[in-house]
Amino acid sequence: MIRDSAGNGVNLNARLNAHGQESVPAFPPTSNANGQTIDIRRALKEGMAKLREASVPSHTLAAELLLMHALGRDRTWLYTHPEEVLEPAGSEKYFALIARRAAGEPTQYLTGKQEFWGLEFEVTPAVLIPRPETEHVMEVALARLGPRGLKIHMDTGLPRERLRVADVGTGSGCLAISLAYELPHAEVFATDISAPALEVARRNAARHAVADRIHILQTDLLEALRPESHSFDLIVSNPPYVGRNESAELQREVRDHEPDAALFAGPTGAEIYARLIEEAGELLRPGGMLVLELGHNSAEHVRAILAEQNCWTNVSFTDDLAGIPRVAAADHI
Ligand SMILES: C[S@@+](CC[C@H](N)C(=O)[O-])C[C@H]1O[C@@H](n2cnc3c(N)ncnc32)[C@H](O)[C@@H]1O
Repeated sequence: MIRDSAGNGVNLNARLNAHGQESVPAFPPTSNANGQTIDIRRALKEGMAKLREASVPSHTLAAELLLMHALGRDRTWLYTHPEEVLEPAGSEKYFALIARRAAGEPTQYLTGKQEFWGLEFEVTPAVLIPRPETEHVMEVALARLGPRGLKIHMDTGLPRERLRVADVGTGSGCLAISLAYELPHAEVFATDISAPALEVARRNAARHAVADRIHILQTDLLEALRPESHSFDLIVSNPPYVGRNESAELQREVRDHEPDAALFAGPTGAEIYARLIEEAGELLRPGGMLVLELGHNSAEHVRAILAEQNCWTNVSFTDDLAGIPRVAAADHI
């Protein structure tokens, strides 16, 4: 998700917020913050103060994550070693990261990772940082698949036929890879127009041991798959859906750091849906399903496209946790 119901840029750290912000225990300082000898407690405190000053959302958690990343330690270690003195190299690395975060770079690009659907994904500035809202696409897709999502027929115990799945605009590969992970009998086609994004998706597929079932394709929407008409069981997409004319309202982290091709669809943001839905209609087999993430104001536009195209049934819209229609789904007739 890029925007919220109020039309404001979404807080990139919404997921971090949901985990709660822990405060740092007020131990007395044991080392000099101006010199090289600084301890964990002091490093956290100073990092948090710098981020708070720069109005960074979730500054407490951001400072923790950056210190964990700089030192290669987990949170438990940080809080059980408050008086451990940082090596100069660790301290330098940490405060360099704090400075970059204060200047607007998203925490996830600095640490190089983001969790999605319980899996850790590599993220670089070539890909959109996976959002919690996109997990609704997973939920709707898996719920709609029902027993078709199981590897075997429950009545006979026989293996199910292979599912053919496509993820359009895969970015980091979070949807394609999570679907391959959940559906061991699926063959997944992950498309993107961006070659650097697909490199990240390729590494993520290898990291989660599903590379042998994921075909990575650089193409415009579903163009490269057109010869395989009416052969897909499921097509998902979280397409770009922000309007160029809304760019000023985005958070600086999003506008200045996430890839333009991942954010903007055209002047209004709704431009990609008609073509995407039409191409998906050509590729899905009868009974195949389309599941799309929606921009904050895309639902009525997408509803009208699905109605016009006359080949869709069982249309549904699912709200996100903020009550915004976030996912559209339909079965191909
Ligand atoms: C909003 S991002 C979604 C990334 C990822 N699926 C996720 O949910 O985090 C949209 C992705 O679509 C890609 N994209 C934009 N236009 C495209 C097009 N015409 N054809 C294929 N991919 C496109 C972008 O490069 C970007 O990776």
